Amino acid sequence: MDCSRRQALRIGLAAFAGGLAARANAASGNPELLTGLLKAHEQKLDEDARYTQCALKAAEEGYAQVAALFRASVASAKVHSRSLASLIKEQGGTPKADGAKPTAASTKDNLAVAAKDASYEAETMYPNLIKEAQAENNGIAVRALSYAKAAVTEHVKLYNSALDHLEEWKVAGKTFYVCPVCGIATMGMSTEVCPICHTPKGMFTKIV
Ligand SMILES: [Fe+2]
Repeated sequence: MDCSRRQALRIGLAAFAGGLAARANAASGNPELLTGLLKAHEQKLDEDARYTQCALKAAEEGYAQVAALFRASVASAKVHSRSLASLIKEQGGTPKADGAKPTAASTKDNLAVAAKDASYEAETMYPNLIKEAQAENNGIAVRALSYAKAAVTEHVKLYNSALDHLEEWKVAGKTFYVCPVCGIATMGMSTEVCPICHTPKGMFTKIV
C-alpha cells in the first residue's frame, strides 16, 4: 500500500472512530445491546485465537489454500473485534482483552465449525444486535453491525466451498483480501472497491 493510500485509510478509520466517540457522549447505555456486544466480542476474540490454530493445522495437513483462508479469517476477526470493542466502550462497557486458548481439530471439522459459527452470526447474532441498535437509534452501531453481518454471510460461502472441494484446496494459488473496515474476506478480488463498504481495493490486506 502506498503512502497516500495509508493516509487515506488512517483518515477513514479515524473518522469512523470519531463517529463512535461522538456517539459515546449521547449513548443511552442499552443493557441488552451491551450484553450482546460483549458476547459477540468474546466470540470474535475466540475466533481470532482458534483460526490461528486452524491455519497451522491446515498447513500441517497439507491444505495450503485452507490455511490461507483461516489466516484471512484471523484478519477478519480482528477487524470485527476492534469494531465491537469500540461499540462496547460507547455503551460504557469494558471489552475483554484476550480470547480462549483453543486447540484445533481436523481441518474438515474446523471448516464445519467455522461455517456453523459464521451462519449463527449472520442469521442470529448480528441481526439481534442490529435490532437493539435500531431501538436506540444508534446509526453508527447499525452500520458497523450491518457491515459485519454482510461480511460473515460471505464467509459462510467460503467455508462451505472449501468443505465441498477439500482436495482442491490443498493447492495454494488464490490470494485472499480482507477489508479493513467491514472485515469481509474474499478469495480473489474482481472489483476495485469493497462490495460491502466501498473501501478501495488498494487498502485491503492481502493474504496468501
Ligand atoms: Fe468493506
